[in-house]
Amino acid sequence: MGARMHDIIHDDDEHHHIEEENREMIATGTDGAFMERIGRIVAVSGGRAVIMLDPAGAMDDNPSPEIGTLLKVDTDETVALALVSSLSSPMPEADADSHEEARIVEVEFIGELGKAADGALGDFRRGVSQYPGLGAVVGRASHDELEKVYACDGEAAIKVGVIHQDQSIPAMVKMNEMLGKHFAILGTTGTGKSCSVALILRRVLEGNPNAHILLLDMHHEYATAFPDLAEVISPETLNLPFWLLNFEEICEILIGDHANREEDTEVLRELIPQARARYRHGANGRLSKVRETADAQNIGVDAPLPYRASDLIALLDTCMGKLDLKNNLAPYKRIKAKLEAVTRDPRYAFMFGSLTVNDNMAEVVGRLFRIPVAGRPITVLELGGLPSEVINVVVSVLARMAFDFGYHAGGKVPLTFVCEEAHRYVPNDPNAGFAPTRRAISKIAKEGRKYGVSLCIITQRPSELDPTILSQCNTLFSLRLSNERDQEILRAGISDSAASLLDFMPTMGVGEAIAIGEGISLPCRIRFDRLPAEHLPRSSTAAFSEHWRSDVTDPNFLRMIISRWRQEDMEIMATTAAMPESMPPPPAAQPAPPPAPAPAPQPEPAMDRPAAAPQPRPASASGGGEAIADLRSSLSDVLRKFREQ
Ligand SMILES: Nc1ncnc2c1ncn2[C@@H]1O[C@H](COP(=O)(O)OP(=O)(O)O)[C@@H](O)[C@H]1O
Ligand SMILES: [Mg+2]
Repeated sequence: MGARMHDIIHDDDEHHHIEEENREMIATGTDGAFMERIGRIVAVSGGRAVIMLDPAGAMDDNPSPEIGTLLKVDTDETVALALVSSLSSPMPEADADSHEEARIVEVEFIGELGKAADGALGDFRRGVSQYPGLGAVVGRASHDELEKVYACDGEAAIKVGVIHQDQSIPAMVKMNEMLGKHFAILGTTGTGKSCSVALILRRVLEGNPNAHILLLDMHHEYATAFPDLAEVISPETLNLPFWLLNFEEICEILIGDHANREEDTEVLRELIPQARARYRHGANGRLSKVRETADAQNIGVDAPLPYRASDLIALLDTCMGKLDLKNNLAPYKRIKAKLEAVTRDPRYAFMFGSLTVNDNMAEVVGRLFRIPVAGRPITVLELGGLPSEVINVVVSVLARMAFDFGYHAGGKVPLTFVCEEAHRYVPNDPNAGFAPTRRAISKIAKEGRKYGVSLCIITQRPSELDPTILSQCNTLFSLRLSNERDQEILRAGISDSAASLLDFMPTMGVGEAIAIGEGISLPCRIRFDRLPAEHLPRSSTAAFSEHWRSDVTDPNFLRMIISRWRQEDMEIMATTAAMPESMPPPPAAQPAPPPAPAPAPQPEPAMDRPAAAPQPRPASASGGGEAIADLRSSLSDVLRKFREQ
């Protein structure tokens, strides 16, 4: 019937007049619902169709739909839905005001709404069972239809924003699809990635207070976003004993990347299991050498079993005593020197700083993965202050522990691992980055869903991220991406209509995104809800206008910076934890406080930690202990002033 009506419109000379009366609302379908008609189908091929728009009319009363607009065509049993993928005027008229110009819209059919016997709209499903034919009338999807399509009925869904096409319609995300099959948030710096992460996680937590989320916070942003919901762990309060590291990770720290790496690796491969065996039997006194060696053979080099650094050093010493050839000593000496250096280095205090070694793995895992949740379902792990090789190792350990935990828990306690700056850890270049970190995150991406371990990948450079990681993310939120290569990466592997939505990407505003994938009923452009000011992540962009208004007149300010720079006085650095927001995060300073007294800890010989707490050394500028005290008190003055500003 609609097609006939259309013909009448065109056959009539005074079609503008008839159009006004008829085009606006044309009864359609069995339910008598009204459709805002925009044109008719003039070509069909596979799941795609070409629509010729009705003339615009003098009042421009048939504006062209946009890319990504959802259109509909009634069929006998369904309402077929199509997304606009391209627009054109094949024969443009010279006269810009001409209303006769042919306007062509290409669409891709992507789903349908069922129609019940009484004409009521049924649920939305992807895929189309009944394709409309030539001449079928096309209209914009109505508010009710859009609502049906985007509602995610019958699933645990959360609202994250509104649909661009009709901002009265909530943008819903299917929580289990999004979390269970990994998701990614992409966008140029400053487009709202961190805010979107905070918003999505908050919405998830509203209905799921007993979630388990570990968020790697590289820029110290998220503590302010979850003041009520997160356990914030900084390098100063992190406790990640070195014996939890697997072999590759401990090699990265104790050996690093030098020419004789192989020799050193062999030494560690032999001695670490022996140190573990020694720890295991430590309580029962020293074992016979034979037992110890036999036991060491049964302990894998990767097993997360405790051992003491002092035992490792003693084993190194024993080996060195046995060797006759002087030139064979080098690997042992190198490892011993490095081990002693890291146990003294305050930046490694969270790994090597504990005065005693006791088997507190349950405590460490429980705190990181929020078991029990105890009202704080998120761990915000602030990694900003650590040297990058340490961050690599920490991210590797955590991703591996997340996977192993999920695996051994049989998926009973689902975890979400949120990784900011993911392109740094899983880079596209196979030779870049730290291999164990890449492997650990890839493993979650590939196998995590079986064990309830999911990833949230955040990056501003999708083209620099390993493409296999992105392809495992079944839900994508892409905020504005201005770089051409980054956009190209996204285009691969998504439908044409979704790809055409990506054309908007360079022009979208802050907080606007293209949402694609299994967590969303249909690819669409959305606007994330605004986060209230009290839940905003702290923006890492330095506010020049704010800081350039007043001068820095206090000379102690510079002294403090230089002191931090040289890592001279760790105690002073610890006080800078309360530095003004604009300051970069201070490097890890104090060793983590020893864990609460555990039952029968293995006492650690003093040599394990030659300099348990770094002694303040005189600041070079002033010299002497008094000067330190002075510096410290004036430092607190500076800090107080800064905070008051
Ligand atoms: N959903 C939102 N609600 C409130 N403010 C937002 C939202 N999204 C973005 N913004 C604003 O944009 C700024 C930059 O967002 P941010 O998340 O830090 O970007 P990115 O992480 O991509 O660099 C924020 O400081 C905030 O002011
Ligand atoms: Mg950010």
